[in-house]
Amino acid sequence: MRYPIRLALLALLVAGAAWAREPAVLKLPPPQTEGGMPLMQALKARHSAREFSPKALPPQQLANLLWAAAGVNRPDSGKRTAPTARDWREIDLYVATAEGVQVYVPEAHALRRVSGRDIRALTGVQDFVATAPVNLVYVADLGRMDTTPEHQRLYAATDTGFIAQNVYLYCASAGLACVVRGSIDRDALAAALELGPQQIIVLAHSVGYPAGAK
Ligand SMILES: Cc1cc2nc3c(=O)[nH]c(=O)nc-3n(C[C@H](O)[C@H](O)[C@H](O)COP(=O)(O)O)c2cc1C
Repeated sequence: MRYPIRLALLALLVAGAAWAREPAVLKLPPPQTEGGMPLMQALKARHSAREFSPKALPPQQLANLLWAAAGVNRPDSGKRTAPTARDWREIDLYVATAEGVQVYVPEAHALRRVSGRDIRALTGVQDFVATAPVNLVYVADLGRMDTTPEHQRLYAATDTGFIAQNVYLYCASAGLACVVRGSIDRDALAAALELGPQQIIVLAHSVGYPAGAK
């Protein structure tokens, strides 16, 4: 075997071993639910941005973001910050970062590991997605929606919209940059996320510090 090939194989093995050591479920810090910007100011500041600093979001920031997006705000019923049609809770938030892919588990306020691959470049067709620190992918599990195919798609889209707006408002409040995105090669991304036949990608959402932030 040629030397560079051996080295590449060794690097793959080392990366694989490091990933295998990571816990399958990572508990997030509790969300900081006090403070933040007054709602009317957050609405005034909400906007799309497509230039990001490469700086990663710290765990507390990511925890706040995910809780704001679709976290449990009424533990007695498990209901969430975003409404869903018939309380189906069918939208899963996949979180693609340089470290790999995880899925948010609102009930446990935790991240469940999906893969150790950096698939950010596959979360959209625009160049910035490859380096945006976080790309959320909103995935609807149609299997949780006992209605017609037409209504499944209609409600999956509207339910995603509520979550995406929560993300926009949290980002405005926290001084983060973000843009929701529909331009995605869905087949390629579904393969990278290893989605099942009942799971459809609705939108993606890039999030990070604004370009130039230290
Ligand atoms: C459903 C949906 C899909 C979108 N898809 C993309 C996209 O693929 N790429 C992108 O850069 N912006 C995308 N956007 C962002 C819009 O371009 C943006 O919201 C619009 O230009 C208005 O700007 P504002 O969000 O700053 O008000 C999308 C927005 C929505 C609501």
